[in-house]
Amino acid sequence: MAKVTGLDGIVAADTDISLVDGTQGHLVYRGFWAKDLAVQYEYEEVAYLLCNGVLPDQAQNQQFTKNLTESRQLPEALKRLLDIIPREMPIMGVLQTAIAMLSGGIFIWPPTKEQAIRITAILPTIIAYRYRMQNGLSVIEPKPELGHTANFLYMLTGELPKPAHVKALGAYLILGMEHGMNASTFASRVVLSTQSDMASAISAAIGAMKGPLHGGAPTEVIAMLDAIGSKEHAEPWIRESLERGDRLMGFGHRIYKTKDPRAEALREVTEALSGNDPWFDLAVHVEKTAVRLLAEYKPGRHLYANVEFFAASIMRAIALPTELFTPTFTAARVVGWSAHLLEQAEVNRIFRPQSVYTGPMPG
Ligand code: SDX
Repeated sequence: MAKVTGLDGIVAADTDISLVDGTQGHLVYRGFWAKDLAVQYEYEEVAYLLCNGVLPDQAQNQQFTKNLTESRQLPEALKRLLDIIPREMPIMGVLQTAIAMLSGGIFIWPPTKEQAIRITAILPTIIAYRYRMQNGLSVIEPKPELGHTANFLYMLTGELPKPAHVKALGAYLILGMEHGMNASTFASRVVLSTQSDMASAISAAIGAMKGPLHGGAPTEVIAMLDAIGSKEHAEPWIRESLERGDRLMGFGHRIYKTKDPRAEALREVTEALSGNDPWFDLAVHVEKTAVRLLAEYKPGRHLYANVEFFAASIMRAIALPTELFTPTFTAARVVGWSAHLLEQAEVNRIFRPQSVYTGPMPG
């Protein structure tokens, strides 16, 4: 079978956007600790920082927020598309299709900050529109007076969200916004590197994001915790899983060989929200047990909980349906993809790695 290196350890590009330090467990966005930004700032401010390189002053933040708010509405043609896509298509497939449909119009090479704002604003509306339609619920139009995170929750439920839920989801969205050259970001940059357009590049990224090894893990984490069910059952269940050679969803990381700083930050946010919720209590116990057993079964692999493990806890704590976990991660990461695409356009160099031919030669 042909070997695939996974480009492990290969540098694809320099970037000013973020530092992912897998040895020390640090995540830096444009010179700031990501976990400080998650606690002290709003989605809009950090989105501005990632795409512009500096935090916005009050006037810049107001203008940016206004631009985002005004871009939330779905074009009629897009609504018609969302209405006819077969109901059985998974929501991430719908999202990928819908974003690809934006190609053309303002979405032509080169990518612009206006395109980034448009796609960041419209993506949550697409998710909410399709989720409610698929579940036979009436469509909720965006509410201009709500911020980006609160409006997303409002469009999903039709109710004004609890401030604690907005704060918790906001922290998750900020911590999920950007993570260096991960698979979906790399996919988007490869597409754009051919001078394709931002919508096509982000549609490609969504295709990468939906895989369970990347953004699809939180749903699997919930299924694992539900299958374990109780603290007493954690050790036998995990041992059996590892003996089968299964991967524990929500654990391990290509870069972090120490604790994922996002998982640490999300554990704190969830703890503040969930208090002594028995389910969260079980999650913390499963995390400790899994890390201990992974060290036993996979010595030297440094496998810890990653962002997805406690992302599942947050999203469950705010009662987000599991089918919305990966779409919600996508509503965060669209900011990082946009920032990278703006950076990619500056260097304008097509990606073309090598491969080693292992097949036969002609006689
Ligand atoms: C994200 O890249 C990013 O930045 C991604 C991300 C982002 O923000 O964009 O951080 C988001 O993708 C988080 C990861 C979400 N996925 C999961 O939680 C799925 C479970 N985890 C994995 O499958 C795995 O850890 C990866 C894919 C995340 C990373 O895998 P690597 O670095 O390629 O590791 P590997 O496949 O080379 O495995 C090395 C060893 C293997 O054992 P051996 O074959 O050497 O005996 O570690 C084992 C693996 O079997 N291993 C695990 C494991 N992860 C790795 N064993 C059990 N459970 C796991 N979760």
